[in-house]
Amino acid sequence: MRIARTEADLASSRGGALVPTMGALHEGHLSLIRRAHEWARRRRGGAPVVVSVFVNPTQFDVPEDLARYPRDEARDARLAAAAGATCVFAPPVEVVYPPGVDVPAEPIPACARGKGLEDAHRPGHFEGVCQVVRRLFALCRPAAAVFGEKDWQQLQTARAMVRNEGLGVEILPGPTVREPDGLAQSSRNAHLTPEERPRATALARALARAADAPTVAEAQRVMRDTMARAGIEVNYAEVRDAVSLEPLPPGARPEDLAAPARALVAGRLGFVRLLDNAPWPAGPSAP
Ligand code: PAF
Repeated sequence: MRIARTEADLASSRGGALVPTMGALHEGHLSLIRRAHEWARRRRGGAPVVVSVFVNPTQFDVPEDLARYPRDEARDARLAAAAGATCVFAPPVEVVYPPGVDVPAEPIPACARGKGLEDAHRPGHFEGVCQVVRRLFALCRPAAAVFGEKDWQQLQTARAMVRNEGLGVEILPGPTVREPDGLAQSSRNAHLTPEERPRATALARALARAADAPTVAEAQRVMRDTMARAGIEVNYAEVRDAVSLEPLPPGARPEDLAAPARALVAGRLGFVRLLDNAPWPAGPSAP
């Protein structure tokens, strides 16, 4: 396994698939790496699979979260290699943000602002994500990049940014990996107390119950109620256009929809912020 730290170290790892991560790899990340490996094998006859491990300081709105973000590069490299990565790119901050060089955080796509979703609850977050993703693409020069469906607004943001800016990178979605009881895998789950852990399944339950609700408004009500009953402080429980993330008419029924819709939920359980999403109504995960 190659460990790259600089742009020059990446010379032999260009033109393949990139999996951007902040490390602390779990099964959700490993499934994204396997997806990248599969794409590289089929589409490019064994192209490189680069996993970037970089805790991006510009996307944290709470400084303590950045300070306590878990870091274990040796473990991440071992897991990434076993899942099919050919290179781990673990740059120091000054390679990503060289002193004196302006790495633009703007523009951000329309789906990343003013939507009342993650954009509202994590001010500045998508500016930081767009900034680092642009920079990682410039350094790694991948043909494709894998983003998890778990962070749906981030996935749509990456897609829109690539489209708007003509970055020429194919964005591959990676399905959400779930625990046997339905909880979406996340590094944050480790911070749930034993008492909170079963209650956290309310997000997946909310999405499942909303899947056959007759209207957008009813789906949103069911999701809110299910989460609130489990003691989750609801941040949002919305059915939106799956790509633009624009609101839909409350009275809209599944058969009225001209384009795919997505149910998106987020909330706080104790100190942990949880999020999840699913197609609405139930169906294959697209687009
Ligand atoms: O999803 C993440 O882990 C991060 O937002 C990403 C895409 C690696 C950018 O830092």
